[in-house]
Amino acid sequence: MAVTSLSSAAEEIKSRCNIVDVISPLVTIKRAGSNYKGCCPFHKEKTPSFVVSEQKQIYHCFGCGKSGDVIRFIQEYYNMSFPDAVRRLAQQYGIEIDDYAGEMGKKKEPYYEANRMAARFYFDSFTKKANPGYSYMYGRGIQPETVKKFGLGYADDGWQTLSDYMLAQGTPESLLLELGLSAKSSKNDKLYDKFRSRVMFPIFNTMGKVIGFGGRTIVGDDAKYLNSQESIVFEKKRNLYGLSLTKKEIQDEGYAILVEGYMDVIGLYQGGVHNVCAALGTALTPEQAQLLKRYTKKAVLCLDSDAAGINAAMRGCDVLRAAGLEVRVMHVDDGKDPDEYIKKHGADEFRALLEKTTQTDIDFKIGLIAQKYDLNDLSQALRFLKEVADVLRPLSPVEADLYIPKVAKMGGISEGALRREIETPSKKAPAPPPARRDSQEEEAVKAGPKPDESRVMTERMLIKLCLQRSDLWPKLQDYPEAFVTVEGDRIAAILSGLYRENSDFDLKSVRERLDESALAYLDRILDEVITGDEEEAFRGCIEKLQRRRDKLRIQEIMDILSMAEGEDDAQLNELMRELAALQRKYIK
Ligand code: CTP
Ligand code: MN
Repeated sequence: MAVTSLSSAAEEIKSRCNIVDVISPLVTIKRAGSNYKGCCPFHKEKTPSFVVSEQKQIYHCFGCGKSGDVIRFIQEYYNMSFPDAVRRLAQQYGIEIDDYAGEMGKKKEPYYEANRMAARFYFDSFTKKANPGYSYMYGRGIQPETVKKFGLGYADDGWQTLSDYMLAQGTPESLLLELGLSAKSSKNDKLYDKFRSRVMFPIFNTMGKVIGFGGRTIVGDDAKYLNSQESIVFEKKRNLYGLSLTKKEIQDEGYAILVEGYMDVIGLYQGGVHNVCAALGTALTPEQAQLLKRYTKKAVLCLDSDAAGINAAMRGCDVLRAAGLEVRVMHVDDGKDPDEYIKKHGADEFRALLEKTTQTDIDFKIGLIAQKYDLNDLSQALRFLKEVADVLRPLSPVEADLYIPKVAKMGGISEGALRREIETPSKKAPAPPPARRDSQEEEAVKAGPKPDESRVMTERMLIKLCLQRSDLWPKLQDYPEAFVTVEGDRIAAILSGLYRENSDFDLKSVRERLDESALAYLDRILDEVITGDEEEAFRGCIEKLQRRRDKLRIQEIMDILSMAEGEDDAQLNELMRELAALQRKYIK
């Protein structure tokens, strides 16, 4: 049976497959009363708090709070987007999705190939004859072997060098545009190179395919680094720089060193420290943490020593810990980043420093809090203890015990007092009375998702509105579920990519990037007429999306509450508060 949209495929999947059958080969779950229970695959735990309800067809972890239906599970477990998870399950259950993107695997090949060819071209420009890119990197102490390992390249200062070459090799224009290797001049419609006067760092996925590039300016361009735009082969949040080369060593060493920059990875690697990788110019994402977790359960964060680096380390700690990784934080005290440090002090000193690094993520946070207060002042010491208690509270008692003596000593109080502070749930309001359901709410809940057709209408309206008013687009970022058809989803991906690049998009560049079915869909949308005020129409659409989301969440919370059996009160209270707030929203 062929279905034509992602959302109807999703419905079909949910009606056909049993969540217990999907989860049980992946997670050990055992029957417990009317549910199944096991250790949560999404965070580290010893006592099971992950519950699967066959009756409700959802899962919920009473430890980390993750919950959802079978599709959500596949997304989280395999670190996939919604469309990919739907496709995966659809294939497993013999549901045919009538779309070009079902052929995604095959579709991606030409993109990889074009990137590979470009990487080769940049590499040849870098290595075959003298050029400013080489001189620059030579000045930074890069050795030929490292150049080869990382496939470093050079994009010259011409405006068409790469574009002309790639076109001559028969690469379609659309591919060069989609990959962000080229852009099109609005004046003469010709392609020009996006990367100019830059040292090129090809970015590989763990399969060793070139998925994108980072380019560092050698002429002091405002953008020190320029990265490829996202494409069907390049999703920044799901990849780590260097990992394709270093995953084996990360596995063997038993931990990964996470650094900030391309040059840090390269500098450490050249110095013989091979178990290293970096986020791609963004804050570390949960997806990257999951990716890393495939190879190791331990990470050492070694970020730049400036304020931005410290902030990034704080967030990085949370992201890594949430993924169940054991975290240490390393400071390079001399030099702005690991690359500089190793250049100045050599690899041996770096390694010695690394080995000396025993500071855990929690030590690191405690240290930062301590810096804010004068611990000799009684009232400041109390504030310090309260703040630290917030850090220690989520830990298991065993883990918290590791820090309690030290902190008590720092703050000049007894360990017992600190323990009591940790055990007092802070700042949490008392639980609201149990939710009361009147008939109106009952209806709101039962109505469930709106029929598909109305969601498709909203999708079309939103695409049209955003094409008329690109400034509306960012407001849609929080609502990926707005796009329910395969074509709409594709158009949204293109709009996202363009917007990220230029903070704007125009119809022409959108059209250039679309395949035929999506283009046909777009044309139909453009023929439709919207009457009235654009902003108002947009607001209406967002309200609809929010209402649907709230209703689903209400249902989900009620399901979770019905699954609870002597679970942690704090989390249940939290859920009841959320439920009450949502329900209030719809009692007018
Ligand atoms: N970055 C980026 N865009 C920028 C600046 C930085 O994407 N305009 C990303 C790059 O991935 C870069 C990382 O953030 O590698 C860290 O930035 P920074 O510390 O400024 O770069 P370094 O790697 O230290 O670069 P260099 O040593 O060449 O100055
Ligand atoms: Mn840096």
